[in-house]
Amino acid sequence: MRELSLHLLDIAENSISAGASRIEIVLSEDSALDLLQMSIIDNGKGMSKEMIAQVTDPFITSRTTRKVGLGIPLLKAAAEDCNGSLNITSEPGIGTELTVKFQRSHIDRMPIGDLVSTIINLIICNPLIHWIFSYHYNEKNAIFDDEPVKQALGDFPLTEPEILTCIRSMVEETIQEVNPHFSQDIVTIYNQPLRR
Ligand SMILES: Nc1ncnc2c1ncn2[C@@H]1O[C@H](COP(=O)(O)OP(=O)(O)O)[C@@H](O)[C@H]1O
Ligand SMILES: [Mg+2]
Repeated sequence: MRELSLHLLDIAENSISAGASRIEIVLSEDSALDLLQMSIIDNGKGMSKEMIAQVTDPFITSRTTRKVGLGIPLLKAAAEDCNGSLNITSEPGIGTELTVKFQRSHIDRMPIGDLVSTIINLIICNPLIHWIFSYHYNEKNAIFDDEPVKQALGDFPLTEPEILTCIRSMVEETIQEVNPHFSQDIVTIYNQPLRR
């Protein structure tokens, strides 16, 4: 996968499969630390220590008996190729937190991609899940929480075109508020104004 957004879709899918009713996505960019970090935090069924070891290392079990996919190992490999890491903390019955880090300016670091569309799709396709997206850019933070929107809508479907447009602009504003130069991070590092 060439975009972080596509990995986000895959990781969030794991949380959905784990029965989560609340999923938080946290994206952080820090220029001083040269760090790009994303966490996906859920309240799903969780994983045991053995399970975590198994899902992060594709070769821990023999290839013929490995039952799980490669979503996590592939993301881990991509992060490690960029001086980063992937870490999972989890507690059975409580939930899981997966954090992936990249050296932000690394030449091989994948772009973030179409984050807004990815988030909108997750929200629309999983209306019973409480979604929270927070974005940290250097010292600034903003949060989009879909709960107040859903409360206000009542039984009105999220898929109504006007509602969709409205939610999209709220997510876009969350990002723009803290980083006006986001623009899908095509090559964010080159779009930065030269200021200190
Ligand atoms: N958030 C999570 N909560 C519970 N189990 C998880 C979570 N994320 C991953 N897993 C477990 O790890 C396995 C491997 O995930 P992944 O590498 O994405 O491959 P796949 O989703 O194709 O099985 C999943 O099948 C699931 O059993
Ligand atoms: Mg998966």
